[in-house]
Amino acid sequence: MSAQGKQRRLTTTSIRAMKGSERIVCLTAYTTPITRLLDPHCDLLLVGDSVGMVLYGMDTTVGVTLDMMIAHGRAVMRGTARACVIVDLPFGSYQESKEQAFRSAVRVMQETGCDGIKLEGGEEMAETVAFLTSRGVPVFGHVGLMPQLVNTAGGFRSLGHSEQEAQKIRRDALAVADAGAFAIVVEGTVEPLAREITASLAVPTIGIGASPACDGQVLVSDDMLGLFADFKPRFVKRYAELGPLVSQAVENYAEEVRSGRFPAPEHTFQPRR
Ligand code: KIV
Repeated sequence: MSAQGKQRRLTTTSIRAMKGSERIVCLTAYTTPITRLLDPHCDLLLVGDSVGMVLYGMDTTVGVTLDMMIAHGRAVMRGTARACVIVDLPFGSYQESKEQAFRSAVRVMQETGCDGIKLEGGEEMAETVAFLTSRGVPVFGHVGLMPQLVNTAGGFRSLGHSEQEAQKIRRDALAVADAGAFAIVVEGTVEPLAREITASLAVPTIGIGASPACDGQVLVSDDMLGLFADFKPRFVKRYAELGPLVSQAVENYAEEVRSGRFPAPEHTFQPRR
């Protein structure tokens, strides 16, 4: 049962059915308290491997492990009542074989109770996606810019500018959809291509840096809240600037501790009479 009562969460089937009728709202989530704030407003919550960069200070997502994803998946599940929760399979936990992917996905689903997994990859992962979906594992695909490939891609940049690049992303999206993914993240892709892919697929596309043409949008929650200050990609809109608020609060606390103004009488226990 969820932390917030017996309300049923949205399922991957209901997310898929939103295509063409409602725009899908997705954010990343990593911890229970923030999840409780996101959950009432989101359809999908993604426990992204971006956790490595956002919470652990890693430079890329490559160092994230399956155990880390499971720990954060469990934390997020404790905070949800409504949103469908998907957990990323991290680098190295599924690329070796479809059997390895199945074992990793089963661990994630059994140990977190989440609704499905996400994996990065296009045509080369289609067989794996079909293997998983035909064995009871809902798969959220991820094409276009794929952060786990940073070391072979030579960095991050928007994609789909050349016809050759666009054709590859089109083929990737189609292959993953045909293999049974319930929805597909399209990342860092030029608008006309994102629009064309969205129109051609029967399953929803969830864009990140892929224009409003997608069926839904996802952002890294710490980016949109202004908590992650290392860099701000062009596609991020900050809906709040929590970083400076946190700094100010800590500065006030430090000043009050040093001056002896905190704790005040109302924060102090006195013996009972
Ligand atoms: O890891 C992540 O947060 C993601 C989203 C940005 C799509 O994959």
